[in-house]
Formats: sequence, structure tokens, C-alpha cells
Amino acid sequence: MAKDIKNILSSSPIIPVIVLDDVSKAKPLAKALVAGGLPVIEVTLRTKNAFQIIEEMAAVEGAIIGSGTIRDFSMMQQSVDAGCQFMVSPGAPKKLLKQAKDIPIPLLPGIASATEIMAASEMGYKYLKFFPAEGLGGVNMLKNFISPFQDIKFCPTGGINEKNAKSYLTLSNVICVGGSFITPKEAIIAGDFERIEALAREAKKLAN
Ligand code: 3PG
Repeated sequence: MAKDIKNILSSSPIIPVIVLDDVSKAKPLAKALVAGGLPVIEVTLRTKNAFQIIEEMAAVEGAIIGSGTIRDFSMMQQSVDAGCQFMVSPGAPKKLLKQAKDIPIPLLPGIASATEIMAASEMGYKYLKFFPAEGLGGVNMLKNFISPFQDIKFCPTGGINEKNAKSYLTLSNVICVGGSFITPKEAIIAGDFERIEALAREAKKLAN
């Protein structure tokens, strides 16, 4: 049975966000992140081989793979076929939120305003991506959502790094954060998965 989004987001304080096209790097990258203690991974659908990469990563023991940059129904169907356990979208158009109800894995929709939170919440979405977090006012903006939206939890992404992640993770309405800072492009290209495992280990400590 599909896990619910609360269950997935509470499994890991930090979700590495991956942009990758080289299929040969998929498995070792997922293994390094799982070994470093960050098993929940978002693979963005921004490269030609993204679905193949998801398939490879989903076969790694302990990895919980989600697709990112979801913008339509077909991307959701293909995510399920590739072995995803969850999906993430940058925005929350009503049509997409409705269609996601027909998909057997959960969607984490992106919001950027109070009105969007209200619209998504009305449709039953209580776990939301706050995107692009830093561009929208970051920690200060999220603090202002605590009181009016006491039933909503956020996963901020966009501009999060090892320096500011902790300030997000201490907010009571943040369940986890997402970001590409754990998987630097040059480390992936060089095949330096030991460094990525070490970065994951360090990043995980930020939640303590
Ligand atoms: C994204 O969709 O690219 C994520 O929000 C990651 O953003 P980042 O690269 O700023 O961490």
C-alpha cells in the first residue's frame, strides 16, 4: 500500500533534490544518500533520462524515491510506473490537485501564498512544499504562516543550504526541508559518492 505523505516526509529531515541525466550515476548516488542517512530523495523531471534514473534509484534498498517538477497527469502516471513513492510539484493548480487524487501515490504540492495554502487545504492537502523558499521571504514568511494555518506543515525548498537549513528545521510548521546542496554537481560528475555520503551525514545532523 502507498505510504501517506506525512509518513514519507517524517522519515527524513532533509530531502536531497536531484537533477541528473547520467543513468550510470543513479544507483551509486542513491546508495550514498541512503548510507548517509537521507533515504527520501526527489528526482526532478527536468532531464531526458529522469524516469530511467528513478527506476534505477527505486531499486536501491532503503531508498524512497519521489519525482519532482510534476506539472501534468502524464508525469504523475509515469512516476508511478517508474517506481516513485511520492511526487512533488512546484505549484498547486486546482486541476493537478484534483487529478492527483486518482494516482496511487501522494503529491506534495508547492505553494507561495496564503491564498494558495487555503485552496490546497480545502482540497485535503495539509502537507505543502513552500517554494521557492528563500525567494519568498524564507523563515520569516513561514513564521507568519504558523498562527493562521495551524493544521498545515511545510517542506520548504529553493535556496536552502547547509547554512540556513537549521533555521527552517526549528520552525514548528516545518516537517523537513529540500535542497540540492547535498549533491553538488561537481561531486556527481566526478563520481565522488564518498563526499556525497559525508555531506548527507553532515546535513542530517542539522536536524538535531
Ligand atoms: C528545485 O526545485 O530545484 C528545488 O527547490 C531545489 O532548489 P535548490 O537547488 O535551490 O536547492
